[in-house]
Amino acid sequence: MPTTPENFALWLPKRGGTFEVGPAPYTRPGASEVVVRTRAVGLNLVDGIPGIAYRLILPWLTFPAVIGGDIAGEIVEVGSGTDRFKLGDRVLGHALGLERSINRSAMGAFQHYVVLLAHMVSPIPNDLSFEQAAVLPLQLSTAATGLFQKDGLALVLPTANPTERGETVLIWGGSTGVGSNAIQLVRNAGYRVVATASPRNFDYLRALGADAVVDRNSRAAVDELIAAIGSGTLAGSLAIGKGSLLKVMRVAARVHGSRRVSSAAPGFVTRILALRGPRRVHVSGIWGGNLKDNKVGSAIYADFLPAALAAGAFRAEPPAEVVGTGLDAIPAGLQQLRKGVSAKKLVIAV
Ligand SMILES: NC(=O)c1ccc[n+]([C@@H]2O[C@H](COP(=O)([O-])OP(=O)(O)OC[C@H]3O[C@@H](n4cnc5c(N)ncnc54)[C@H](OP(=O)(O)O)[C@@H]3O)[C@@H](O)[C@H]2O)c1
Repeated sequence: MPTTPENFALWLPKRGGTFEVGPAPYTRPGASEVVVRTRAVGLNLVDGIPGIAYRLILPWLTFPAVIGGDIAGEIVEVGSGTDRFKLGDRVLGHALGLERSINRSAMGAFQHYVVLLAHMVSPIPNDLSFEQAAVLPLQLSTAATGLFQKDGLALVLPTANPTERGETVLIWGGSTGVGSNAIQLVRNAGYRVVATASPRNFDYLRALGADAVVDRNSRAAVDELIAAIGSGTLAGSLAIGKGSLLKVMRVAARVHGSRRVSSAAPGFVTRILALRGPRRVHVSGIWGGNLKDNKVGSAIYADFLPAALAAGAFRAEPPAEVVGTGLDAIPAGLQQLRKGVSAKKLVIAV
């Protein structure tokens, strides 16, 4: 690249500190890395809790830090060892700067130029806006980790032309961003989906591909899910959202098939709660960045997603709500996210 671009980042100067926009180095890509010019970032719950929760969830994080997991933009530089991209390609990617094994500000999404692992980046179709594409990465990765990793549900990987398998996957929390991705991934792997949400989101879940939907607030939700699974075989269950794990464990213990449950709750919460559920159910916690280190990462971002997005077999969901423009709009967006969203994703155009 002839001149080094000027980079700016939303810095978190210290643990529990206040975000501030400032200059940041432009970092060139290493082997199997790319640099993306950010055009939109998605906001996730983990981005908005830089105080005590970071100490528990991300104790290794060093400061000043650049956080953020979801990015869509254009490729501006390609490192050695990757031939999937050329300059100017429109892409989305999972920014992994917060991972224990990375812990690197150059790889946080909340800056103008972001270094990404090439196998965690997907080209996007021309008719998919950067804002809508930015809803996907972290929630997609989280769903894929829980569904497809060997230590999760170990389901068959998705393809654009799946074979129907006749087995059911239970997804509690289907209208969350993680759940919206999980429903579509599971359908594209050929499984039947039984999911929960609030009734206002039932049509949304059906449009994503859910075969049966149950009100997560119903007192009889466990029995209703068991009825919806019926005499079918359960291939595994995903527990997303506060209060979901024990209910999902009760369903898994009472139907035919897999007793594996993947939990999206933080690891220590999952471990404590799982002790209170039926013994014969096997629970594993999800860490949504783990797929970068095994075949699931490239299976999703390189093999599945580009073709599935282009063919319309997988949609960037939930719908984006653009709540600001520029890095300095991110803190207010994170405040808004903390109040809660329903079947939508808050996005900042950059
Ligand atoms: N382990 C990881 O690596 C990882 C990564 C990302 C997220 N997560 C966790 O996964 C969960 C979902 O995250 P997200 O970003 O996808 O959420 P989100 O999109 O912000 O979730 C919004 C949705 O949550 C649903 N909801 C609210 N309370 C719920 C509950 N008690 N049970 C089930 N659903 C509930 C609402 O559904 P209705 O309006 O239909 O009721 C709403 O549509 C969070 O707990 C998050 O901390 C974990």
